Amino acid sequence: MRCFNMDKTTESVKGFYDKTPFPDFELDRFNTKDDLLKYAFPFAKYLNRIIPKDASIVDVGCGTGQLAALLSLGRENVVGTDLSDTSLAKANQLKEKLDLSTLRLIKTDIFKMDLNEQFDYVLCLGVLHHTHNAKEGFRHILKLSKKGGYVAIGLYNKFGRISLYLRKFLLHTILRNNEKMKELFLKKQILSFQDKERFRGWYNDQFEHPHETAHTVSEVLGWFKENDVEYINSIPTLKLAYDFNLDADNLFDKDNINLTSKHIINQLRWIFTTANDGGYFITVGRKK
Ligand SMILES: C[S@@+](CC[C@H](N)C(=O)[O-])C[C@H]1O[C@@H](n2cnc3c(N)ncnc32)[C@H](O)[C@@H]1O
Repeated sequence: MRCFNMDKTTESVKGFYDKTPFPDFELDRFNTKDDLLKYAFPFAKYLNRIIPKDASIVDVGCGTGQLAALLSLGRENVVGTDLSDTSLAKANQLKEKLDLSTLRLIKTDIFKMDLNEQFDYVLCLGVLHHTHNAKEGFRHILKLSKKGGYVAIGLYNKFGRISLYLRKFLLHTILRNNEKMKELFLKKQILSFQDKERFRGWYNDQFEHPHETAHTVSEVLGWFKENDVEYINSIPTLKLAYDFNLDADNLFDKDNINLTSKHIINQLRWIFTTANDGGYFITVGRKK
């Protein structure tokens, strides 16, 4: 287990997101509540579809808050928390502009949360690997889950991230002083390069971040075991030779697979299959 200096890490990560909030958006884009769905990323649309309307949700490390905003439509209790003032300020602009009365936004550090509340769904996507101790962070976010509630964590995978490490090395060494080659190189990696907001957020997060860690499925299963959390499902799936299908599969349905050893073989696959997503994987557990 790797631990880093808490204050230093938190300070630099906060500074980074205060300068370059994620995923970011142009407020002009959102004029009606319908625009939240219209401009949502496919995975946000998916979560909005599969999470029941009567569920309470907390999005820990919500960034600029588009996901929490979308989920708040038609739901009574949705909370977004983050550490970054700039990110929360943007999230608040969206909340006010669209009059999202069931969305609450709270500034808090994962390690110092004193929300006296528990939720049906705890989402923490792309956050823990930017903290000084992801495992400890997981323990903290679990406090927000009801007994029987779902916890979804999105993390960089140690194997899946290999390609990004190589690309990062190339960008910061051989291509460092060649703007044209750099642009070509980056263009090849993101389909929506025309979408400036998306590109800016993606580039900064992947290539310029001051702090990240990467994790294995075994590690996450270990965190689950230690904290009495039942494994439910994951994207990519741990089933061999099967790709998770957002139209047919439900991330919160129990995947009754025999976990032994399969996750090791699968993660080797992820070196190639998750390269475009920066080696990102989402695991869902259920608090016993
Ligand atoms: C990559 S962004 C992810 C944003 C959003 N969850 C998403 O998936 O688009 C990471 C977010 O985690 C927040 N964060 C990082 N460390 C944190 C901490 N210790 N406490 C609370 N939020 C934190 C950052 O401010 C940032 O907004």
